[in-house]
Order: sequence, then C-alpha cells, then structure tokens
Amino acid sequence: MTGQRSFYIHSLHEKYGPMVRISPTEVAVADLDAFREIHKIGTKYLKSEWYQQLANFPKAGIFTMIDPREHGPRRKLLSRSFSRSYLLEHWESTVREKVVLCVSQIKKDATKDVADVYHWWMLLASDVTAHLAFGESFNMLQTGQANEFIRVLKKLIMAAGIMVEAPILRLFRFVPIPAVQEIFNCNEYIFRGADRAVELARSRSGEKNVFAKVIEDSEKEGEGTIDDMDVRIEASNVIIAGTDTTGVTMTYLTWAVLQRPGLQKALEEEVAQLPERFTENDLLDLPLLNAVIEETHRLYGAAPSSLPRIVPQGGSQLGGYYIPQGTTVSTQAYTFHRDGKIWSDPLTFNPYRWIASKEGGPAEANSPDAKLAFHPFGVGARSCVGIHLARMELRYATAFFFRECKGIKLGARTTPETMEFENFFLVTPKSHRCEITYRKDQMLGQ
Ligand code: HEM
Repeated sequence: MTGQRSFYIHSLHEKYGPMVRISPTEVAVADLDAFREIHKIGTKYLKSEWYQQLANFPKAGIFTMIDPREHGPRRKLLSRSFSRSYLLEHWESTVREKVVLCVSQIKKDATKDVADVYHWWMLLASDVTAHLAFGESFNMLQTGQANEFIRVLKKLIMAAGIMVEAPILRLFRFVPIPAVQEIFNCNEYIFRGADRAVELARSRSGEKNVFAKVIEDSEKEGEGTIDDMDVRIEASNVIIAGTDTTGVTMTYLTWAVLQRPGLQKALEEEVAQLPERFTENDLLDLPLLNAVIEETHRLYGAAPSSLPRIVPQGGSQLGGYYIPQGTTVSTQAYTFHRDGKIWSDPLTFNPYRWIASKEGGPAEANSPDAKLAFHPFGVGARSCVGIHLARMELRYATAFFFRECKGIKLGARTTPETMEFENFFLVTPKSHRCEITYRKDQMLGQ
C-alpha cells in the first residue's frame, strides 16, 4: 500500500539470502539457478491468479491468461503484429514523427521555462500505443494533454493496483460519491471507447490498426480465434502495458544522463554523427546510445517487481529448499539487477559496462550470469510482446532528444529525493515530474 514492496523484498534478500519466505504462501527467489528453472521455455511454473485480479477485465487477455494452451495461440497472433520486421515496415514512420513532435514540445517548454519530461515522455508512449491499438492518432502530443480515454484508463489501473493488494477496498465501489464510483467503475467506459479499435480493425478501408492484421491472421489460419471483446481487451492491454513502462524508462534515462555532463556530451557527440534521415537500423550501430538504454533498464527498469508463478504439482527443489506445490514463487528484476556477484559496483549508473573494452576485453554485461540475470522485459514465454516497439521508441527518443536538446540541464526542483522510486508493480518517480531547462535561473545548482 505504500509503494515499497520491491525495495522491502530486496532488503530481506540482503539480510536473509536468496530464498525468503515472505508470506505463508509466497517465497521470494533471488537464486540464479532457481530463476532459470522457474522461467525456462516450456516451464510448468505458470502465472499466478494475481494477474487476473490485477487486470479485472470480463475475459482474460494475453497478459493474464494462465493456461499455456490458451496463451500460446494468442501470443502467436499478437507477436506477428509486434515483430520487429512488421513494425519497421508499417509503424516506424509513425513512431519517428511522434518522437520528433515530442522533442520539439520539450525544447519549446525548456526554452521558455521548464519542461516536465515525465509528462512528455508519457504522452509520447501513450500516443504511440494508442495509435497502434486504435489505428488513429489521439493527438495528445499536439494538445499537450492526455485525452479522456487515457485519463480513465489510468484510473482503472490505479483502482486495479489498489484492489489486488487489498481486495476489501472493492467495497468502495458502493460508496455514493461520484469521484470514488468513477475510479472503481471505469471498465464500462473503457470498453465503450475501445469499440473504435474494433471498428477500425474490421474496416476494410481507411486507417488500420495492429488488430486488423491479428484478425486477418486468425481468419487465415483458423488458429486462435479473436472476437470483438478480445480486441477491446487487447487494445486496452497494449496501451496499459506500453505507456507508463516506456514513459518512465525515458524519464529515468534523461535524468541519469543529465546528472553526468561527461556522459551527456559523449552521447550528444555520438548522435550528432547520424545522417540527416537516419533510421532505426542506423541507431542499432550506436554503442553508447544502446549502452545507455540498457543501463537504464538495469538500474531504473520500469517493471522490476515480483513476477509471481505457482510451483507445479509434486512440489520442487529450488535454491536448496523443498517448496510444496501451489506455493507462489516470485523473482524480481530489482534484486537480480543489483546483485554484487554479477555486476561490479552495482548501484552505479555505468553504461560502459555494456561496451567491450578498447583492448577487446568482453563487456561486463556479456558474462553468462549477467545475460541470464538481466530481464527488464520479463522472461521466457511470458516476456514482453512489445519489446521491439519499446526499443524502437527508446532509441528514437534518445537519439532525437540528445541531438536537438544539446547542453540542456536538470531543473532545480528535480533532485534525487523527487526522483526516488514509488513501486506499484511498475515504478515511477515519487514526484511524478522530472524537470529540465535551458533557463539559467531554473537550473539545478544555480
Ligand atoms: C520499456 C518498456 C517496457 C517494459 C520495461 C516492459 C516490461 C514487461 C515485463 C517485465 C513483462 C512481463 C510481465 C510478467 O511476466 O508478469 C511484460 C509483458 C508484456 N508487455 Fe511489456 N514492457 C514494456 C513495453 C511494452 C509495450 C510498448 C507493449 C505494447 C505492446 C507491451 C506489452 C506487453 C504485453 C502484452 C505483455 C504480456 C505478454 C505475455 O504475457 O505474453 N510492453 N512487459
């Protein structure tokens, strides 16, 4: 309830070791072999029912489905529409245009006064996912504001997050205060809004969304059917899963780099070398840009919390303990990404650990343990289906930002305290703001 779960579990691992029983029915696991066993391909450790309570939709969607026989076909259908090759062919220019607009809005605000990059990176991420999911732009980067659909969706996520941890609060839905009722009864509004996604997915002309291909593929192969309610749910899922994650990651990336003038200068110089009409493929070749993104995922990953799974029938031996069947075992990236046995000086933001040394020595992040432990996008069959979209957005946003906003500084009101993590499955900066500026009188340390 106080948004501290992952940090508290991490402190328990530091005190008691890699296997900690955190409730009568749940064990927190920070042992690498156990992690591999729980998340390996074909695993029998399935997602726990916690996910379905979290989403609270009328039907399960890709994120909440438990049975692999149900999840597998749905995953296959969505994966094609979110594959790197499909995105490059159909959506790269949309992502690029939105990033360009977002960076120009940031620059405008930062020149006049201060720009809140948390606000702008969130709008970018929701404009991108909403455009893909609905097939038309929500134009939020133009207006500088989230529209009603996104505002209600955020309330829905907040209510779900509270109810999953404290189910008793479901009773709030009966409190006759409109503002409270609105928070706990927004499903209906969302599904009415998501009708537009269904309409455009099924339209034979005009703008298309990613679900047009999903429907086409499902009809073609008769494999994994998808009805209108599924489209509504998956469209909402894509926006929920793809907004705060990408927005928060870009916010922490900006913050981490602007605190280090030497790194900022090196990154500005690297992206300045890009050709005028650079593409995502050009960005793949930039070592520092990609290293900065990976290091942000390691230390400030947006989804670092417990991924709860259930011990299968017969129980299992994990981390030297027998764990009975039905127990929840949860692993958290927050702890694996800070393990001092895997990462040198683990609490320091050091992108160079991702780059091979000039003498040809391997990058620290290339060690087998680091490769296994690093999982900002989850693991195995349940890893993030939006990974290529997220990576494309992050690369473009980083490149355009550090090309266009050279020498920009953190605002005076943005400090390590305001950027401290708050954790409700995802993490966000406590202040929900991150200010940057060109104005000397507004800068940190002036
Ligand atoms: C930096 C950005 C992102 C991060 C850090 C992130 C992280 C994650 C993580 C950790 C999981 C696994 C959750 C679990 O096992 O409980 C996941 C799953 C998922 N993500 Fe992302 N995500 C990001 C962006 C996106 C985007 C842009 C989309 C939009 C398509 C998306 C859609 C999904 C979906 C649908 C799943 C469920 C996949 C399944 O269960 O098969 N994510 N993500």
